[in-house]
Amino acid sequence: MNDTAVRAVDIDVDPAVSDTLPGWVYTDPEVLATERTRVFFRTWHYAGATGELRNAGDYVTAQLLDQNILVMRGRDGVLRGFYNVCQHRAHELLEGRGNARVVTCPYHAWSYQDDGALRTARGAEKQPGFVAERFCLKPVRVEVFAGKFVFFNLDPEAPALADIAGDLAADIMAHTPEFDRLEPMAPKEPRVIRANWKVVLDNFHECYHCGPAHPAFADIIDMACYRTEITGLWSKQHGRLAKLENKAYPVAEDANHATAFWWLWPSTTFGFMPGDPGLSISSTLPAGMGAEGVGVTRRRFFSFGLPGAVPDQAKLDYGANVLGPEDVAICESVQRGLASRGYSAGRFVHDPAGGQTTEAAVHHFHRLYAAAMGF
Ligand code: FES
Ligand SMILES: [Fe+2]
Repeated sequence: MNDTAVRAVDIDVDPAVSDTLPGWVYTDPEVLATERTRVFFRTWHYAGATGELRNAGDYVTAQLLDQNILVMRGRDGVLRGFYNVCQHRAHELLEGRGNARVVTCPYHAWSYQDDGALRTARGAEKQPGFVAERFCLKPVRVEVFAGKFVFFNLDPEAPALADIAGDLAADIMAHTPEFDRLEPMAPKEPRVIRANWKVVLDNFHECYHCGPAHPAFADIIDMACYRTEITGLWSKQHGRLAKLENKAYPVAEDANHATAFWWLWPSTTFGFMPGDPGLSISSTLPAGMGAEGVGVTRRRFFSFGLPGAVPDQAKLDYGANVLGPEDVAICESVQRGLASRGYSAGRFVHDPAGGQTTEAAVHHFHRLYAAAMGF
């Protein structure tokens, strides 16, 4: 049981014989404290779209646990990332997304150039020994992925995203309908889920639950053809429309009939469903640190669509009002269960052919996670 078990994690290389991650890994704030440095501060996370960062001064901000960063397009056209914190007395500089010709702190109005250099600091020039160069914004690495997406990494030593996931970019570009024409839409409100971030991603990683838990999804997608594939630091699930008229939303004969979902270690998912062209990205991260962060996930969604196209409301409604809430209820129930004294660890169900019952991508996630954590 949770409170008496030896705290071992034993993820076998073979999913057919492997246990899952044990419950305490999802409920212990000390595990989250370790994840902070071993998982999140070494890896690439989604910040925004190049389509939001076209002009000088365009910026986006992103939250990664207790760290807030900003990415901004400079007057020289270069995208730069910085920790979003004023070097005077640590007020946050920018909020949300927008355009700022000059980054001016709301607290005492120190201002910064778009390359992070301190521009003005009222009165500070009279302070003995004040050296402006000491108070530049602290840089964060950014990288454009698949030409459209901007990722950041707090680790200056981390391998380039293109080197570790260039094949994922190529796969998304090759298989997303109208990829080149897709543009970012207004970001949606984040979804707060009362479950550990790994519960949310475990659930994303398999469609074994789709039949019992998502009857409409299992009606719109041909589950007999559904496949899971695993590659390096990412995995993919893909399938095809089952029928035009179905329990989820109607799909036109001449519309896109494919579906695909990708996950990139550790926090980013990409996906599209049958119907009008589009792509949805989500960032799945702990909502904070401590007890709040270990049991609460903030999932941010970013949509891409064809410019000027009228979105398919029935498809949007299905995602927002049916599929999404079904998954939230599952994850929140699982989180309660993981804390139960009557649960230790489970067992993966594995189909070597990658068919609809396989949990191989969950196992893949757990393997990457256990390796990163040093379990
Ligand atoms: S904290 Fe930013 S100007 Fe004082
Ligand atoms: Fe689901």
